[in-house]
Amino acid sequence: MANVAVIGSQWGDEGKGKIVDWLSSRADVVVRFQGGHNAGHTLVIDGVTYKLSLLPSGIVRKSKLSVIGNGVVVDPWALLEEIETVRGKGVEVNPDKLMIAENAHLILPVHQVLDGALEKIRGKGSIGTTKRGIGPAYEDKVARRGIRVCDLRHPEILKEKLEQMVAHHNALLKGLGADTVNVDEIYSRLMAVADEVLSYTGVVWKTLDEARRQGKKILFEGAQGMMLDIDHGTYPFVTSSNMHAGQAATGSGMGPDAVNYVLGITKAYTTRVGEGPFPTEQDNEVGIFLGERGHEFGTVTGRKRRCGWFDAVMVRQAVKIGGIHGIALTKLDVLDGLEELKICVGYELEGKSLDYFPSSQVEQERVQPVYETVSGWKESTRGARSWAELPAEAVKYVRHVEELIGAPVTLLSTSPERDDTILMHDPFLG
Ligand code: IMP
Repeated sequence: MANVAVIGSQWGDEGKGKIVDWLSSRADVVVRFQGGHNAGHTLVIDGVTYKLSLLPSGIVRKSKLSVIGNGVVVDPWALLEEIETVRGKGVEVNPDKLMIAENAHLILPVHQVLDGALEKIRGKGSIGTTKRGIGPAYEDKVARRGIRVCDLRHPEILKEKLEQMVAHHNALLKGLGADTVNVDEIYSRLMAVADEVLSYTGVVWKTLDEARRQGKKILFEGAQGMMLDIDHGTYPFVTSSNMHAGQAATGSGMGPDAVNYVLGITKAYTTRVGEGPFPTEQDNEVGIFLGERGHEFGTVTGRKRRCGWFDAVMVRQAVKIGGIHGIALTKLDVLDGLEELKICVGYELEGKSLDYFPSSQVEQERVQPVYETVSGWKESTRGARSWAELPAEAVKYVRHVEELIGAPVTLLSTSPERDDTILMHDPFLG
């Protein structure tokens, strides 16, 4: 049996929640390895909707271990609030079901203040962050001034570290003309939740190593998508972590061979929230149609998502860079009823053809998509559970996508319901 990493292949919001939930019913351990509560995963199980941000999707299932790895940045108050919310829906959460890496970094209120202040000074060049403090928390981690979960066990060191961190940031906030933060207030708020957070803390790398040796199936749950990756995305309009499946190992404390199959979640069209280049964006009636039909509003911020045609060049790039073995194609039903569909198969930049998405911010803004037009289908694909239930043109579309991106469709999702899924290959078989 193989361990599987699930990563987004576009700009996030590809419908990972449902696929991860579907796979987690077969896994023993579900691990988050990057990002934080900027993510938003919606699960619909037996008609009940769960909106998860920081908790791994395995949490809604009995007898699964959910792990928040060291690569995640944890807002302790958001974590406890989310635990209470899912408990309110009848989900059991206890230290036997949830483990947080003791070396994960914390997001503190100062990071959210900085996130807001930095976005403000970026002005027109703002990233459109979720304002959850994700970027500033990762900055502190790399700057070696971050506070980790294990620091909560040692109040004296915690206070010292906090004073240094806040002194650093208050100087910046003052310079920006923003309100400064009070270190004593943050310290006492932290101490008020420390014991509860620590009750979930464990040595994740050891637990995962044991799980692996016992032949347990591990599912690594990525958040966001490859085009938001700090190295490979549309920098600087990206988030501050790596979505790349290699991060599943680094962000959980396992060797690179721990991931045997990489499943790229891919939406049958393209969306993006926040600012930044988006070559196939349709700021017209097509975009409105996709947004309304696909309910394209952010799970975390409620922001309207920008919508456009499927960009095969970008997904192919995500497949190659991310080492994606197969994709789960989602939301095919949103395209039902469109007479014609467009697929981006290349770009043009200043009279030259490109078969890849360039790295420069300027070139990413300037590329013009080259489209291929294919026939749509009138019939509904919603809820289909086998190939035979799909209209011929829909099957053609899926086959063409496979050819263009250079990866097979492993799973096809035809509605938000978990069982409305067509399985071509079981990722746990490797
Ligand atoms: P941050 O992660 O809050 O720093 O935001 C940086 C960029 O990533 C912004 O464009 C956000 O809209 C985007 N982003 C962050 N998390 C998600 C997500 O889960 N889905 C889609 N976009 C996201």
